[in-house]
This record gives sequence, structure tokens and C-alpha cells, in this order.
Amino acid sequence: MKILVIGSGGREHAICWKLAQSNLVKNLYACPGNPGTASSAENVSFDFNNFEELKDFILGHSIDTVVVGPEAPLVEGIHDKISDDESLSSVNVIGPKKHGAQLEGSKEFSKKFMFRHDVPTAKYQSFTGETVAQGKAFLETLLPPYVLKADGLAAGKGVLIISDLQTAKEELNNMLLDAKFGDASSTVVIEEFLDGLEFSVFALTDGEDYVILPEAKDYKRIGEGDTGLNTGGMGAVSPVSFVDDEMMQKVEERIVKPTVTGLKKDNIDYKGFIFFGLIEVKGEPFVIEYNARLGDPETEVVLPRLNSDFAELLKACGNGTLGEKKIEFDSRAAVTVMAVSGGYPGSYSKGKEIIGLENVADSIVFHAGTREEENKIVTSGGRVLAFTSYGEDKQAALLNSYKSIYKVDFNGKYYRKDIGFDL
Ligand code: AMP
Ligand code: GLY
Repeated sequence: MKILVIGSGGREHAICWKLAQSNLVKNLYACPGNPGTASSAENVSFDFNNFEELKDFILGHSIDTVVVGPEAPLVEGIHDKISDDESLSSVNVIGPKKHGAQLEGSKEFSKKFMFRHDVPTAKYQSFTGETVAQGKAFLETLLPPYVLKADGLAAGKGVLIISDLQTAKEELNNMLLDAKFGDASSTVVIEEFLDGLEFSVFALTDGEDYVILPEAKDYKRIGEGDTGLNTGGMGAVSPVSFVDDEMMQKVEERIVKPTVTGLKKDNIDYKGFIFFGLIEVKGEPFVIEYNARLGDPETEVVLPRLNSDFAELLKACGNGTLGEKKIEFDSRAAVTVMAVSGGYPGSYSKGKEIIGLENVADSIVFHAGTREEENKIVTSGGRVLAFTSYGEDKQAALLNSYKSIYKVDFNGKYYRKDIGFDL
């Protein structure tokens, strides 16, 4: 196989790391990749948003498989463009077309989809600038806290959870009338608040069948004890102690199956990952959100726990033969702890030299926000490095990650010391 992975974060490093273990993979490229992906793949620096450049690269390097890491290119239709081009139509693109990517690209679309196919999720209504008054009236019928969601992609910031009614009404005005999240909040979904424990499940589907990857839980807040601002993710663990076989059975029967069948019924041609953001409420799973890709930093614990050949699964996804595949997991726990730049998720500086990476022996270090500069690795983002470790249990795995983080340094390094604290 000749594979191109699109993206540049820790998720894409983990994807390249896993693919590089397969004998099926002859050539592996990451665009643009990062200094971490460079150890498993060849980084290539064309503009993947420019279709002519993408097409030239695919044809010039006989690429047969394109794995799209982040959501934005999927929502913008990268898969459709490749499939619609006669000379590229045989390329196996992992990631849905524009229509299917709406599961992530539009909250309203995804809520309608869930209600149409009986997938358990919070009750909701959606509103636009013309129906602000009805939106406020709807808020009055709900109990606090109030959940307001910008319909479109808002870089993970489009969800507000507000404890008092007056503020919720004001924020509804800000979103609908003052474009708080730009175009993304020209429609707002207001939904019932669900109180419970969150976890993530990932399925790979060829549109007909699916395989389910190990479950994970991520830690989004910057502060210990899940306090402070939301981030792109400060760490993750897999498995998740409260997600037992019975819960996974419910997730498969009530959520994964009806979702895959629903896509088929709606004539949505979907090949790729479905990320189920879930919450357990009184023993029952509900969908908080769908994403059309793998999660970050969940991928940094999920793929290390996959014993099956990842490239073979992606190939089967393209051929429509996933139904014949069995998926095997490592029974050990995997955890990842993210080291971030001081100040993140607020403003932070970049270009800080990272030292000590060569001393890490007990963890896999996935690069999230790094770049190479004058033969040095320096910071280039808020989330910098994901320290993934295995252990007989979560505690043992965490100890390895914390030992490794201690050996690596950059100016302003911050990490949460309590990943997995609630399990
Ligand atoms: P989303 O972008 O839809 O995943 O929402 C971001 C976060 O907001 C989720 O991870 C949850 O922590 C929280 N959230 C979203 N919807 C709800 C809901 N209906 N009830 C409780 N929490 C929610
Ligand atoms: N970890 C959550 C996400 O990838 O959206």
C-alpha cells in the first residue's frame, strides 16, 4: 500500500506510527506531518487544500489510500473531490464525503439524524436569528444548566453550558444576532443537559459493516480536577473502568448499529471513522456528539491498544470487506499525558527548544505541536507532546508517562498530574 496521511498533530503521528508497523505498507507519507511523523513516514509539504497539488502528489506517488486526520478537510469535501476525479476514483479515502461529514459539521444535522434513526441523545430544538424569541421561550421550559451549541464547526469552542437563565438568553442573542461564533452560530441547537460520565467510542465503517476500537476517555480541561478552560485535550486513558462489556453491548446495539444502518438508509456513502462522544446516564449510553474522524488525544491511546494490522483494516474499509475482519486489542492499559505550552489554552509563546527526548525509554512520545528548527526540535503549538505508556493497569501506565515527562523539558512546560483521577 502507498498511503498518504493528512494532518499534523498527535493523532496523525499515532496513525503513522501504527501504519508503519504493517508489512502491507510500502510507502507512507504525511502531509504536512511534524518531526514525530518523520520517524515513521516521509513528510511532504504541498498544500492539501489545493486540489491540483493533492492530485499531482497522489498520481505522482501512486497513492492508493488517503487517510484524512482532521475534520475540516472532510467537511469541505476533500473525499468528494478525489472520488469525483476520474483519474483518482480508485483511491481509497478514509473519511466520509461532505454529506456524511455533516454528522460533525452541523449539530442540527446530527441531532435530526439521531432522532430519525432512534439513536439515544438529549432532547433539543434549533433556532435561527428569526426565531430568537422562540429560543428564549424554549429555554424557559428547560431546567438549568442550559446547553447552547453553535451549529457549525467552531474549533471546539462552540458549546456553552450556562447555569442561569438570564445569561443563557443573553448568550443566545450573542450567538444568533451578534455572530459570536461567526457563521457557525447562525443556527443554534439548545438541548437538555445530561448529567453523567463521558467516554468515547470509535468505529471504522465501510458503509455496510463496522469494527469497534477500544473505548477511551479524554480530559479536556486545563486544570486538575477538570477545572478551568477547555483545551484540545490534556490526556486520555483506555480502557475506561466504568465501561464494562454490558455497556459496550448497549453502545453497539443502540448506537453504533443504528448509526451505520441510518447512514445507509439515508443514502450517505460513509467510509471512515465515526467518533461517538458518549455519556452514561443512570447506566444508559447517550450520544453527546458525533465526529467524522478519530479523536485527539484518544487516538494516542486507542491505536497503541490495537493489535490488529491497521493498514489491513483500512484496506478492507476501501474494499467493503470489513465484515470479514476481527479486531484484536492489547489487554494492557494505555494512557497519554499531554505536555503543553505555558499559558495554553490562552496565549503562549512558540519556538522553545525541547530537550531530553532521547532519554525517554518507557513511553511513546507522539508529537502534537513541534517543528524542527536548525536541527533542534522546538515547540510550535499549545499542545506539544503526548506521552503514551502501557501498564498492567492505568496507575502503572500513568507512572511511566510521568517518569517520561520528567525527562523532557521545554520552557513553560505544563501538564496535568491527575489524568484518570475520576476512574
Ligand atoms: P460537544 O462539542 O457537543 O462535544 O460538546 C462539548 C462538551 O460539552 C461535551 O464534551 C460535554 O462535556 C458538554 N456537553 C455537550 N452537550 C451536552 C449535554 N447535552 N449535556 C451535558 N453536557 C453536554
Ligand atoms: N478529544 C476530542 C476530540 O478529538 O474532538
